[in-house]
Amino acid sequence: MNALNRDLCKLVGRVEAADLSKINSDPYRLKFHLMPPVGWMNDPNGLCWYHGNYHVYFQYRPFSPDGSGNVFWGHWTSPDFLNWTQQPVFLCPSDTWDLHGVYSGSALVTEEGLYLYYTGNVKYQGDHDYIHTGRGHNTALAISKDGIKADSNQLLLENKDYPDNLTCHVRDPKVWEEDGRFYMVLGARTKEDRGEILVYESEDKVNWNHINTITTPHVFGYMWECPDLFVLDGQCIVALSPQGVSQDGNHYQNVYSCGYFPLYGDFRGEYTLGAFTESDLGFDYYAPQTFEAPDGRRIVIGWMGMPDADYTNPTEKNGWQHGMSVPRELHWNGEQILATPIKELEALRSGMHQVTFSGEEKCALEEGADICIENKSNQLHVQLGDGAEIVYENNLLILKLTDKSGYGRTERVAEVKALQKLRILMDTSALELFINDGQQVMTSRWYPDHADTIAFRGEGSAVVYNMDAMEMIYSEA
Ligand code: FRU
Repeated sequence: MNALNRDLCKLVGRVEAADLSKINSDPYRLKFHLMPPVGWMNDPNGLCWYHGNYHVYFQYRPFSPDGSGNVFWGHWTSPDFLNWTQQPVFLCPSDTWDLHGVYSGSALVTEEGLYLYYTGNVKYQGDHDYIHTGRGHNTALAISKDGIKADSNQLLLENKDYPDNLTCHVRDPKVWEEDGRFYMVLGARTKEDRGEILVYESEDKVNWNHINTITTPHVFGYMWECPDLFVLDGQCIVALSPQGVSQDGNHYQNVYSCGYFPLYGDFRGEYTLGAFTESDLGFDYYAPQTFEAPDGRRIVIGWMGMPDADYTNPTEKNGWQHGMSVPRELHWNGEQILATPIKELEALRSGMHQVTFSGEEKCALEEGADICIENKSNQLHVQLGDGAEIVYENNLLILKLTDKSGYGRTERVAEVKALQKLRILMDTSALELFINDGQQVMTSRWYPDHADTIAFRGEGSAVVYNMDAMEMIYSEA
């Protein structure tokens, strides 16, 4: 850790300590979702289980809730996904190769320590947004014995090391070990505006060779951010956050998307990609990252936000913006990925009531709720306080936000052939809808004035649990 890094770390700690109590009085602070202590947060990074804790690092702009300014890596740890400690910032933009931001990356657990691969962003003089030469996108490595502070940082790859046909948009290393070798995928944008994934291989975790490129036969977006590659219940999955995919009916409704291709063949050689499926159909879900928990579960966490969105969350004026989705367990059912909240969250349930409805029924809600609905007909209407309606009819499930709670966002639509089950995780300012055991998911921020009642119209039943808050301890930098 260099001197600048140490000073920046301390400065962030001081800003957090000064602003936290004011920020925590915001009624829209989340109860059971991770959120930045102060300032702005985006992608989850470096997800892993290391030394008895889950580690969630994150893209963090502690000084600017509007997302301007250089990005750091914030950090939380938890032994159980319920009791969290907010650790000092882990990476600061302070080396020559990351001066203007420590961008997204991932963790590799090794016997020599935790290896954290990240992108160092350097804006060059002049037009740094110029996609061909405007910036350095460096692949870098931090090694940490305890996962809390970086013991060393080094530059691994810079613009000149990537294949010739690329712009300067190459980033977001995701690294894993397989068959005694190490692999890394990097997201990239070619000079012809084609999104692709570079596959690298290494024997020593430090020297990397480009061995393959994964892309589609026809251009699918101009840039693929935050790539991930993993085997899920026997199926190889390539996940990514593509930019530049145009809206197509009820698909790709947001400015950017995220989703996955099943990959058949060998990611190191010959392969074909199956159809792309979006991971989420709500307003706010992007840049998800997966990791394998010690019990073998594949868990994903996504950013409950969207880059370059045309709205601002009202929390910005209170000094913070954005949150993470709850961790979700993934499975492959032979055709698609199913995503459901991890079972640990059930420990936050306190108090419950059951409702059977045939026609209209209303009941009370606490500030946080886990609502499990069994639907028995081809129409359903659920009203959540004064902020949202969920309407199912004509094989469409529509999440409707009111003007006030949506801040300019109105509705998102999922095509659902038969709605049997709907689970709603409702937090003070977040909604996650899991349709038919996670066949489809809709994630959104919302800002209701009241969320103290739920009204059902249709045929079915529901179990409504209150959700308590997770524990969060703030540790000193
Ligand atoms: C995705 C992303 C990544 C980048 C990071 C910067 O939201 O744009 O590609 O590494 O955010 O914060």
